[in-house]
Amino acid sequence: MADALGTDADTLERMLLVLTAFGVLRRRSEGRYEMPGEMRPYLDRNDDQYVGGFVDHLVSETSTQINRLAAYLEHGKTAVDEQLPAPFEFLYRDEQAPAEFMAAMWSLSFAPSKELAELARLNEVKSLIDVGGASGPFAVAALLRSPTPSATVFDLPLVERFVAESRHTYDLADRLDFVPGDFFADELPGGDCIALGYVLSDWTDRTCANLLAKAYRACHGHGRTHSRQQPHRLRWGFRPNGSAPA
Ligand SMILES: C[S@@+](CC[C@H](N)C(=O)[O-])C[C@H]1O[C@@H](n2cnc3c(N)ncnc32)[C@H](O)[C@@H]1O
Repeated sequence: MADALGTDADTLERMLLVLTAFGVLRRRSEGRYEMPGEMRPYLDRNDDQYVGGFVDHLVSETSTQINRLAAYLEHGKTAVDEQLPAPFEFLYRDEQAPAEFMAAMWSLSFAPSKELAELARLNEVKSLIDVGGASGPFAVAALLRSPTPSATVFDLPLVERFVAESRHTYDLADRLDFVPGDFFADELPGGDCIALGYVLSDWTDRTCANLLAKAYRACHGHGRTHSRQQPHRLRWGFRPNGSAPA
């Protein structure tokens, strides 16, 4: 395998052992490994569930944060990072960076979004607003998996071209819209359902409270009351011991 890949055999073997320890591979015998069938979708570039885009993002964009971990624990992340550029100034710092971030978000979100779109019971939703929706992993999943007629991604202006690509790829000409804006400065576009995916985890509680107040104002009829029903379990995701997803 090392010859075929042009890699160092010893280092490759160590990596394969680590992957085996994590349950990504199985070791059949000395020098022989196999990939369990349930792992393939996550590692196949052509599969919707491919996680490589997000792994690339973790390696290239977040690995240096580990050097600041002790300071984060001591003083808090917000205080330590105060002197650094704002997160999205850094993530969108040049021509190439936004495309990589969009690929990472797609890779992180599209597969679970398809399940979420079903669990969220969007059947009566006529207009979905995906706030900070990136290239549209949730909005597209919702349009593909529910009768929701239209979805609007609300995001920073530079994201528009990526939503246009998704619109084209998934043939959603009149159903997937984009509204440029800044969710700190602007009110959110109105709709029957306001989605926030991996957005609240980026900001402080105070900022999130403001954002949620905007979402409440933007949601027609201020949303619906959640009915009590059996909690759903997502099929997506690994269990810690690497066994098949529930
Ligand atoms: C972590 S990503 C989440 C992407 C997507 N919702 C998902 O689930 O994959 C955060 C998104 O928020 C957007 N964003 C960041 N700051 C924003 C702002 N001030 N106004 C509008 N969108 C913003 C980013 O461009 C990015 O698409």
